[in-house]
Amino acid sequence: MPAAGLTKHAVELAPGVHWVGALDPHLRSFDIILKTANGTTYNSYVVRGEHGVAVIDTVKENFADIFFERLESVARYDEITTIVLNHLEPDHSGALPELLKRAPQAKVYLSSRAQMMLKALLKPSGGKPPEYIPVTTDDEVDLGGRTLRFLHTPYLHWPDTQCTYLVEDGLLFTGDIFGCHFCDARLFNDRVGDFRFSFEYYYAHIMRPFRENVLDALALIEPLALKLIAPAHGPILRHSPRDYVQRYRELAMPRLFNEARSEKTLIVFYISAYGNTRRMAEALAAGAEAIGGVRVSLYDLEGGESGIFTDLIEEADGLAFGSPTINADAVKPIWDVLSSLTTVNIKGKLGAAFGSYGWSGEAVRLIEDRLRGLKMRVPLEGLRIKLVPDSNELEQCRSLGENLARHLTGRMENRVVDMASLA
Ligand code: FEO
Repeated sequence: MPAAGLTKHAVELAPGVHWVGALDPHLRSFDIILKTANGTTYNSYVVRGEHGVAVIDTVKENFADIFFERLESVARYDEITTIVLNHLEPDHSGALPELLKRAPQAKVYLSSRAQMMLKALLKPSGGKPPEYIPVTTDDEVDLGGRTLRFLHTPYLHWPDTQCTYLVEDGLLFTGDIFGCHFCDARLFNDRVGDFRFSFEYYYAHIMRPFRENVLDALALIEPLALKLIAPAHGPILRHSPRDYVQRYRELAMPRLFNEARSEKTLIVFYISAYGNTRRMAEALAAGAEAIGGVRVSLYDLEGGESGIFTDLIEEADGLAFGSPTINADAVKPIWDVLSSLTTVNIKGKLGAAFGSYGWSGEAVRLIEDRLRGLKMRVPLEGLRIKLVPDSNELEQCRSLGENLARHLTGRMENRVVDMASLA
């Protein structure tokens, strides 16, 4: 974790293009949920043109002093004509209020969503507000012999995010995209330690839930001539930058290729203390399988850790969870899987719950609440069966499976309401 050895000066990426960011080697968790074994960096960049200077993103507020020191080593504040905000999260906008005070003449280029969010970040200071210019794909800023071109790449990982391309030099400033939490004062990917695990970990936790947006962004990025990728965290990617683009493409593509295109997938997770919930799961799975057009997978969570199912869950169309009720709750392996779903986009998937119980049977309702909280569709009432399911109750499980399959395949019969019965 070599953080020493870096001077307080800016670091040159290309003639007239500098890194003016900050190192945070001692950070061990980010946004509470991300582990950062190597700390992180907050990368900010300065681009000099013949008519002015652009600053692209800033740093976390506590690192403003070193940011300004590095910035002052390559530009005067009165030269700054342009501030680009690729992303507004406070680790990149923390020094912005002070920068705006020091360079009040600068115009601020940002996405239209960022402009809306900025009000919540920047409390009115009483001075003249800066000139904000919302930009989107192909909008440009001429710095004099150098052109900044914007790419609209929202939801990576906030609604505001965008990328900025320095056209003449082939440099792409990407915000959090292609970033990782890895602090190494050697800065460039061909000089720092092995950061592959950090790159993959960051993608899995930050970008993965937005796979469709990643693919949209790649469609804009892949045609560019790329000499270097300058993300907002971690190593600057000057050696084989396209490898990282390709890796994002691989990570964002569907992983399971053995399903017929028209086939839907239902995964049934269960855990069972005495075999009762297992029998329910097997009956439900058999019912779903019988409908046709649905590929059903059955997993006993006693035999696996939650993390290994992430890919399956991401690509499944429906998820059913079976848990006994112990101490008025679902059991821990079920909650482990459900809590792991925050890194996966499961909005709109079909969900269901079932389980055997001895006394009160709260598990099914609790699981259903969680599924709805994750914005899954839960159209069918879950099944709670007291202790050992008899043949009629197993038939109910089978019927639940059949109806889940019908929902997945669009063959659910419309319920006909007898108006007379409502009288
Ligand atoms: Fe690095 Fe989303 O902030």
